[in-house]
Amino acid sequence: MIIAIDGPSGAGKSTLGRMIARALHLLYIDTGAMYRAAALAVIRAGVSTTDEGAVADVVARADINLAGDPDSLQVMLNGRDVSEEIRTEEVSHSSSVISTIPEVRRTLVNRQREMGNRASGVVLDGRDIGTVVFPQADIKFFLTAATEERAARRYEEERVKERDATFEATLADINTRDRRDSTRDDSPLRIADDAIVIDSTKLSIDEVFERMMAVIRERNMDAREGINS
Ligand code: DC
Repeated sequence: MIIAIDGPSGAGKSTLGRMIARALHLLYIDTGAMYRAAALAVIRAGVSTTDEGAVADVVARADINLAGDPDSLQVMLNGRDVSEEIRTEEVSHSSSVISTIPEVRRTLVNRQREMGNRASGVVLDGRDIGTVVFPQADIKFFLTAATEERAARRYEEERVKERDATFEATLADINTRDRRDSTRDDSPLRIADDAIVIDSTKLSIDEVFERMMAVIRERNMDAREGINS
């Protein structure tokens, strides 16, 4: 079973992806974390994010892996755990920039397909899972929420971590990343034709989880009935 979760930044994709993977005992792949690890490799190599050829080379040579279970997912770069380091503002910005480079996307999409195909069941979250990485996914969700709500959630996360952030700066960052992720030429963020759209602006995480699980149960039921009839 392949479950795709796409949507803009701060829509709750990774929290819900983890919850669903845990509930159904599936592998969880946070593809945003892979773009972040790639961006960290580029920063460490001292390469400018505008030098597309050099960036593509660094990413092709980087060994990016995800380890552990959904709740304690470790993002590995060249054998080292970089889970914390990839959450800085610099990496957020750079990951959004390098993810517009087709060669970078090709490398990471291949890696994601490899990881997904090896597992017996998988939940992937990102921007292009249902449209490009696994267009044949069994279930596709598109999670979204009002921009202010997504910024408020991100700001709260930053505050809890005692990071230096303002709501205005967080909102501006979300707007910039949304624009870049949705307008790039290669695999822009868009809703797959057969995706189920959930707007979580006025919903709690548990309410969104219940809605998603209801869809999954219903689809599984249909599939089983199909086999029995
Ligand atoms: O989900 P995230 O914020 O951790 O992702 C970081 C960046 O990576 C995001 O700005 C866009 C890019 N990305 C992408 O282009 N395709 C994906 N499947 C996942 C993330």
